[in-house]
Amino acid sequence: MNSLAGRKLVLGVTGGVAAYKAAELVRLLVKDGADVHVVLSVAGARFVTAVTFQALSGNPVWTDLWDPRMGNNMAHIDLTRGADAILIAPATADVIARLVQGRADDLLTTLCLARDCPLVVAPAMNRQMWEHPATRRNIAQLGADGVAIWGPDAGEQACGEVGPGRMLEPEALFERLVAHFTPKRLAGRKVVLTAGPTFEAVDPVRGITNTSSGKMGYALALACARAGAEVVLVSGPTGLAAPDGLVRVSVKSALEMRDAVFAALPGADVFIGVAAVADYRPAAASEHKIKKSGSALTLELVPNPDILAEVAAQPDAPFCVGFAAESRELDTYAEGKRRAKRLPMVIGNLIRDGLGTDDNVIVIYDDAGRHPLERASKAVLAAGIVTHIAGLLTPCGK
Ligand code: CTP
Repeated sequence: MNSLAGRKLVLGVTGGVAAYKAAELVRLLVKDGADVHVVLSVAGARFVTAVTFQALSGNPVWTDLWDPRMGNNMAHIDLTRGADAILIAPATADVIARLVQGRADDLLTTLCLARDCPLVVAPAMNRQMWEHPATRRNIAQLGADGVAIWGPDAGEQACGEVGPGRMLEPEALFERLVAHFTPKRLAGRKVVLTAGPTFEAVDPVRGITNTSSGKMGYALALACARAGAEVVLVSGPTGLAAPDGLVRVSVKSALEMRDAVFAALPGADVFIGVAAVADYRPAAASEHKIKKSGSALTLELVPNPDILAEVAAQPDAPFCVGFAAESRELDTYAEGKRRAKRLPMVIGNLIRDGLGTDDNVIVIYDDAGRHPLERASKAVLAAGIVTHIAGLLTPCGK
């Protein structure tokens, strides 16, 4: 199941140029399973048409309080009935001012008054409008009225000015919505993770690495952050962008990864080793580029430290979770690694099921036995792993 499956969201789109970004937001929400109902203000419809939002959401788009398509003429009630949240993105200075006044002179403001679900606004306006004392007052009042205000960002604006007032990007709004609906199972916890491959230098331009994409580690780091944890992600070289809401420390080699992990470890409640750490590194990297010669080249490799085993062996070790990617006999090898490294939990998968892909099949091994999770996206599996870990942690403060 996706993170927003079964969620009914009302998206208010008001008259700002950022309305075009609301179309992308609808696409992201719908792709993740949300049921999105767009309420487009008259000014919003000057920027993007209702047809665009209808095509993307698969639902009728509403503008008029008196729309005859609503049989009982109660659009303001029917639209928010059962809604999990109303998000206004973009929210202009004008709609913010009207919300503060409790006006009900169009469909969007009326349904904001008649709601019993959370209201979120994502402001979008020119820098001077955002900084105007009237807007400052209105934003403070809206916050005091219990309305969440997400953004704005600072940067280049459509009017050519630079400063605060840009609407948050659709991806950032999507991420905040998902985090909003995620139970805070790891609130008050600190989680340190490793992800991606390591790169063991042979000479200044060559090295030994592996094909780990880092996707599972990044998905798990994001799931921990969504669940309310303070997260430090120690990442080997990947092409992935750092997820919002966590600290990423970029490293190359296993030795750098170990140093970064131990630097982040104080106060950690959970350590999750997802990285495909190279088991060996060249005994000494050549200072200069190695030139080819006709004869065979022998590299001397020495073992790298096992970061996970070292963390688990600490006197006050956090709850340690390992990964085991195997090509066969998953149960035997994964459970064997759990016992050998003395870990409370290992997540096993068969390499053919998940390396480099967006989904996977995994089995969780713990003291109670094996717990298979069915094939799903790495994001969904990560949420399942977080639930499992949270269930095994001793309650906070004990
Ligand atoms: N790990 C680690 N440091 C290493 C090696 C592995 O922290 N130097 C962690 C990985 O992040 C993962 C788990 O240990 O959580 C993998 O266990 P391991 O037995 O090392 O796996 P493989 O290297 O795949 O072992 P093998 O080659 O024997 O299958």
